[in-house]
Parts: sequence; C-alpha cells; structure tokens
Amino acid sequence: MKKDRIIIPVASGKGGVGKSVFSSNLAIAIAQLGHKTLAIDLDLGGSNLHTYLGLSNKYNGIGDYLKAKNVKFKDLIVETDIPNLSFIPGEGRTPFLANIPFEQRLDVIQNIQQVTAEYILLDLGAGTTFNTLNFFGISHQGILVTTFETPALMNFLMFLKNFLYRVISSIVRHDRQVFKMVVNTFRTNQPEDPLTVRSLLEMIHEKSPELASRAKKAINYYHPRIIFNMGDHPDDLKMTNKIDSTLRQTLSLQVDYFGYIFYDPQIRQAGRQKEPLLITIPKSPFAIGVKDIARRIVKIWDKDINKSGERLYEATQKRYKQFKLN
Ligand SMILES: Nc1ncnc2c1ncn2[C@@H]1O[C@H](COP(=O)(O)OP(=O)(O)O)[C@@H](O)[C@H]1O
Ligand SMILES: [Mg+2]
Repeated sequence: MKKDRIIIPVASGKGGVGKSVFSSNLAIAIAQLGHKTLAIDLDLGGSNLHTYLGLSNKYNGIGDYLKAKNVKFKDLIVETDIPNLSFIPGEGRTPFLANIPFEQRLDVIQNIQQVTAEYILLDLGAGTTFNTLNFFGISHQGILVTTFETPALMNFLMFLKNFLYRVISSIVRHDRQVFKMVVNTFRTNQPEDPLTVRSLLEMIHEKSPELASRAKKAINYYHPRIIFNMGDHPDDLKMTNKIDSTLRQTLSLQVDYFGYIFYDPQIRQAGRQKEPLLITIPKSPFAIGVKDIARRIVKIWDKDINKSGERLYEATQKRYKQFKLN
C-alpha cells in the first residue's frame, strides 16, 4: 500500500446518528482544503451517500463490481462537480448485498488500497456485521460516530467490543483449541458478569503466551476516533471521563475524542436539495462543525492526541459561545 494515502473508515454502532451526512460532507470539506479526496459508499444494503452528495443513482457501484464480471473497480470512480472530490457508489444498481463473502471483502479492501487519492473516506453500514467490522479494521484510526443518547452510546460500546473480539479471534484462529475457547467464552458471556478483554487475554495466555501477546499488541494498535453528533451543549462532553474508564476497564482500549457537531435544525429546513449541505448552508453550525473536523484531520491525523477529551471540550465551548451570539 502506498504511504501517501490516508484511509478513514466511518462507522457507528447505531443507525440514524448522522454517519452518512457527516462522511459525505467531511469528504467535501477535505476536498475544499485542496486535497484529492475519494468518498466510498460501503453501506452495502443501505447505500445513500450519493443523495447527500447531490448525485443521482445512475452509476455502477461496488455492488455491480461484485456481481458483474466486466465491471472494473477503477471504472467505478465518479468525478463530482466539486473540485478534488470523487466518489464510488455502494450498491449502485445491484441492491441486497448486506453481507458479502470474506474473499470479496478482501478483494474490495485490496482495491481500495490501490486507488489514487490523498484521503479515502469509507461510509460503512451501522452495527456489527462482519462487513462493517472488517472494513473498520482497514485503518488503526477509524472514526466512530455517535450521539449522546443512551441507545447510541450503548451500541457504540457494543461496536468496539465486537470489533476487538473479532481482532482477537482472527489472531487465534489457527489454534483450534484457543479459538474454540474464545468463541465459547464470547457466546456464553452473561450480562451480569461482563467479560473483559483483560480476562480473555489471561485465558488465552494460560494456553498460549505467544498468542496472548500478539492479541494484546493488535489491540494496542487501534485508536478509534470518536465524533459526537447532534450535541446540545459542550457539557455533553463531561461524559468522556466515564466512557474512558468504562473502555479501560472492560476493553483495555484507548480512544481519541476528535469532533463534536451540534444538533442543527437547518439541516431539516434545507430539506432534500440537489446540492450538499456544505454548499447550501456553509455557515450553519453543522457545516462549521464538519469543517473544523476536516481541518483537524489534515493537520493532526497522524499525530497522537493528548487529553483529547479536554481539548475537544474547550474547542466546543468556543463554538457554542459563537453560535449563541449569532
Ligand atoms: N447535526 C445534526 N443536526 C440535525 N440533524 C442531523 C444532524 N446530523 C444528522 N442529522 C439528520 O439525521 C438523519 C440521519 O442521518 P444519516 O446520515 O442518514 O444517518 P446514518 O448514516 O447514521 O444512518 C438525517 O435526516 C440527517 O439530516
Ligand atoms: Mg447511512
């Protein structure tokens, strides 16, 4: 894989949290900063990224590539009217593709790693299907979108849990005995006695210290980045401390808090437009929130972020005051 491209998968535990409207407009914002950007709709079974980009559904997509022998991956790329922005549709004209076989997923991933662009954004399906978990693992810094509502936060934690168990089970897969133990432990887990990654690693360690250490390394490699959407007030972010301690205790995982977008009634008022929101309402809190995130991505995506929760809180407070004055 060439080093000059950054692949950013965008996932969410729950549907309807704004993942597609965010990832489409984020792609536009990065393109507007002058970087060659490609948005790929990988929500196979619920593709709608084209709508948010103001495009019709007349092009071949990943679905057609997987179904028809004569469609080449690189021919799926649609140049948009927005400078620097191209797009690959999802189902295209071949719907009903929610779960594709492993080999096909691999093929799609390898193709994505070959396309030429500086930033490649992947809009994934909600939830924890194998498709989504696999695609999310393409990068060690995938984006997870959530709102502050309890069901969304629960599904957000559930997503990370399923993702890590998938990472662990793929590492122990070749050792039948250990693999069976991991799968059984995960399956028979009781809600009143929640399984932790630490206890699972200890169990693996008893059977194979080498596999346990490889699994631990793999988990340390991932630093998902969190975008909160539809926020009301910066104080929403006070819960990041609680999220951090839950993640540390149950999943031994560290995440970065990367962005916050306010609930923005203008989105609904803008209605179904032929043009994307970043173009029609560029000064709205939604557009400003997305552009803040785009700038942060271009500036610090590769860097470690210290005290990300506190930094995001400060940045969000500044924006809150500004929006309140308007
Ligand atoms: N910040 C926001 N403020 C207000 N409405 C929003 C915001 N973000 C998303 N929405 C609305 O939420 C709905 C779901 O968005 P969508 O991107 O399709 O969700 P997902 O892809 O996560 O299923 C859309 O109607 C969208 O306009
Ligand atoms: Mg969507």
